[in-house]
Amino acid sequence: MAFKKKYAAVLMTAALAVSLSACGAEESADSGSADSSPAVEEEASQSAEAGTQTGGGKILIAYFTAAENSGVDAEASASYSDVNGEAKGRMQALAEMIQAETGGDLFSIQTEEVYPADGGDLIDYAADEQDEDARPEFTTQIENLDDYDTIFVGFPNWWGDMPMPLYTFFDEYDFSGKTIIPFNSHNGSRFSGTIDTIAELEPDAEVIEDGFSINERDVPDAAGDIASWLDELGF
Ligand SMILES: Cc1cc2nc3c(=O)[nH]c(=O)nc-3n(C[C@H](O)[C@H](O)[C@H](O)COP(=O)(O)O)c2cc1C
Repeated sequence: MAFKKKYAAVLMTAALAVSLSACGAEESADSGSADSSPAVEEEASQSAEAGTQTGGGKILIAYFTAAENSGVDAEASASYSDVNGEAKGRMQALAEMIQAETGGDLFSIQTEEVYPADGGDLIDYAADEQDEDARPEFTTQIENLDDYDTIFVGFPNWWGDMPMPLYTFFDEYDFSGKTIIPFNSHNGSRFSGTIDTIAELEPDAEVIEDGFSINERDVPDAAGDIASWLDELGF
């Protein structure tokens, strides 16, 4: 809780600026490089089509973003980026960039929980959810997980951790034998300890430590860094 209080001032400014910054300040990214990785899709249930084959299996890009879980358009949500004139959740934007390079299928993790669209309310709401160790239930499901060998998993840093829906995600799905590639966006904390947490939650998966992590401000311009990172990973 001390961390939360300490971070609150910075975060309030940042997160609100974030929502205001749809226009995405174009600073140079603290971007991309080796920290973590992955991605999404949006319908209540989808059976992924065509993913790119790697090592015999397809690629899934699963992601969570507040912008697709607040019951409002991305632009009215607590956080989004302006990517080529289109408002979208930052993790959605990153997931789509990964998809452009890998041909993987997108999967948007969506919850029954409707998250506050107001930035300040979302910050408090997420803190309470974390304190309660909540497991928000899903309205979207991966129906054909067996088809996938490689799962990019993307999430924002919330209070130095993954949003609680990611805990539901790793509880609900067994990624044994698969490769998990994390990617995230943040406002300074990068991955915090989330890659280690994922490895603990999925002990029989290979969790790539060289994930992709980028400051929220740099998301609109992340495509080049993502391409380089994927190249280094062998995609
Ligand atoms: C509830 C909440 C908590 C956050 N906590 C942190 C944090 O601890 N560290 C950090 O660097 N950024 C934090 N942020 C900023 C987000 O990680 C950042 O805005 C991210 O890009 C949001 O992605 P999205 O727009 O796809 O939801 C927080 C944002 C929210 C809304």
